[in-house]
Formats: sequence, C-alpha cells, structure tokens
Amino acid sequence: MYSKLPQVGQSIFAQMTALANQYQAINLAQGFPNFNPPDALIEFFYGALKSGMNQYAPMPGYLPLREQIANRMYSRYNKTVDPQSEITITTGATQAIYSIISACISPGDKALILEPAYDSYGPSVLVNSGIPIYVRMDEPSFDIPWQKIKDAIQQNDIKVMILNNPHNPTGRIWTREDYMKLIEITKDKKILFIFDEVYDALVYDGKKHISALEFPEFWENSFVCFSFGKTFHTTGWKIAYTIAPIDLTNELRKLHQFTVFSVNTPGQYANAKFMEYDPDFINGLSAFYEVKRNFFLEGLKETNFSALPCEGSYFVLAQHENCVNDEAFCHHLVKDKKVAAVPISAFYHDRYDPKIIRFCFAKTDDLLESALTLLKE
Ligand SMILES: Cc1ncc(COP(=O)(O)O)c(C=O)c1O
Repeated sequence: MYSKLPQVGQSIFAQMTALANQYQAINLAQGFPNFNPPDALIEFFYGALKSGMNQYAPMPGYLPLREQIANRMYSRYNKTVDPQSEITITTGATQAIYSIISACISPGDKALILEPAYDSYGPSVLVNSGIPIYVRMDEPSFDIPWQKIKDAIQQNDIKVMILNNPHNPTGRIWTREDYMKLIEITKDKKILFIFDEVYDALVYDGKKHISALEFPEFWENSFVCFSFGKTFHTTGWKIAYTIAPIDLTNELRKLHQFTVFSVNTPGQYANAKFMEYDPDFINGLSAFYEVKRNFFLEGLKETNFSALPCEGSYFVLAQHENCVNDEAFCHHLVKDKKVAAVPISAFYHDRYDPKIIRFCFAKTDDLLESALTLLKE
C-alpha cells in the first residue's frame, strides 16, 4: 500500500455534508454560501465563455485580474504590489498554501501551526516530509497563546509559521498589538510566514481587518493568501490569489506551473470585470454578513446553545451543556434535529475535544430561521 498520509481520512466537512444529505438536514456544517454570486458576475462569466475565453490563461494569472487585485491591496491595505511579479492566481487558497509548502519546506523542516487550524495545513506539511509543531489556543477565548508560541520557537528550529486571520473556526481576529508581538518574538529568527487571510473582507462591529501586508517587517519573508471564493460567494469556482515578494513568488510559481499551470480563464476574466464594475461590492460584505451573524446569534439565545464571540469569518462557535463529545453531539444534531454542524475536534491533529461545535451562517435568512427553529426544539 502506498500512502504518505495513512492517518488521514475523508475530511469532516465532506462527512458532515454527506450526513446532512442522508438525513435531509440543514447544512450549517461546511463553509459555503447557499446563495448565488451577484448576477453581474455570472453574466461576465457567461459572456467570457461565449466570447471564446476558453483556453489557458497565463500561468501566473490573467493580468487584468492581477491589476484589479493590486488596486484593492493599495486601497485597502495601503500596500503597493506589482501585478506582474508579486501576485499569483491559484486554484483556491488551499492549493496556494499546499504549493507554497511544497516549494519551501524540505524534509525535516518544522512548521508551527496554531490549533484549532484549517484542516489542510498539517497534512500539507506532512506529505512534504515536514514536521508540524502544533501550538494550542486555549478555549473558550482562543486568544493567541504568545508565551506558548515563544516557547515553541525557542525549543524548535521553526522554519515556517502558518497563521490564519480572521480565524476559522474561532471567528477571532488579530489586533495591531498581535502583529507587533509576532514581530518581537520572531525578529532574530529566519522564519517564513504563510498568512492565510481568506476571510479578510468579513470582519464585524466596525473593526477593520489588519493584514500582514501592512507591516514592512514581514514583507520579505511572507506569502499572504486571499480567496475570491469567500468574497464573491463562489467557493466552487476555486479562484484565489497569493501575494509575495518577487523571490518568493518565483518559488511558488515553480510549483504552480507543474501542478496547476493556470486557473480557469472565464472565471478570472469575470472576477476582473466584476471588480471593475462594482468595486464596492467587497467593501459591503462585512455589513451583509454582520446582519446574518446577528440574526443567528440572537436566535441562538433562545436555544440551549451559548455562542462564543464572532469577530470575523462566517462561523460561530457554540457550546451546549449536553455536549460531552463534540463528534457524537454533531451526529445527534444531524440525525435527530436535522441540523448539521462541525465538531471542533476536527480542527486538531490529535482530535482534542473542547466540546464546542461550529455553525456556518453564510446562508439565506429562511434557512437560518429554519435551522434556529429546529435548534430551539
Ligand atoms: C482558513 C481557510 N483557509 C483556506 C480556505 C480555502 O479556501 P479556498 O476555497 O480558496 O481553497 C478555507 C476554506 O474554508 C479556510 O477556511
């Protein structure tokens, strides 16, 4: 049997979605909207198909899309990036992160990962013969455990750090002080940073996402990953982008050219046209999702769940007094209450169970309402 990942099975998201279908439950498990992207975006995609944009795009990405991204980075983060040499379009952020790790991690290199963590990080390190060093954020606050990170860096020769902000699944976001702390504890080290900022447009309560791109201290050693799936309600299009200085971008592209080569042309064209047509769409996302977050949190108050604070992303964590094992509890919810959620133990390599579950609120109001009615019973 040839397996480099013998311990890895089907992801919990796919499992819970399959169970949601089996039991005809409402799927608040997997992180995707159940509504369509804006009509104009779909029209641009369709127009691209009809007008013959059906062949390979340039390997690093369709240039007008990279130019739109550069504009966005400047207006949002005051960061000037060169569309030619510092932006790469990828098949989702998951592929970008995998390719970065493949390009930069050599056998035995250690990668620090904060848990709970998006489930691709650890396996991507392992399959490239790297060593994940897991540092746990303590529940229920899920504050960044600076002392533990400092200790891990002192005890291990950390080559890479993979950091996610806004955070899936906790919904926590980083402050400027958090970044300053990171700069302070890593300043004498040669660490490569992978900043996963796929939820950068989803931050609530009048707060603003602070990107790693805003700190010159990180620039030379960082990849920063974003995803259109989260911003245009198009997770199925799998179009994302990574920003990095030219040397790092070249390393990423070495892998990218042989694994993906190029991302679908009509989707890239449509994204570029839509950014030009409605530049404010992305800026309106926080307000759009904040209404849903508030609606869901208010509804949860009438159930036996207690929600943890959600500052960003489209996930809410919740506790329940009957939850003694989060996986069993989610199985019970999907079978008996017809609502699918994700057990947080799925975000820990050792299946540590903080007895907390995750709901995704990127759903239409009627679906959220139906789910809340079921959860109230
Ligand atoms: C933290 C995080 N990073 C990356 C991704 C993947 O993004 P994409 O769909 O662009 O691959 C997700 C998707 O759920 C995510 O939650």
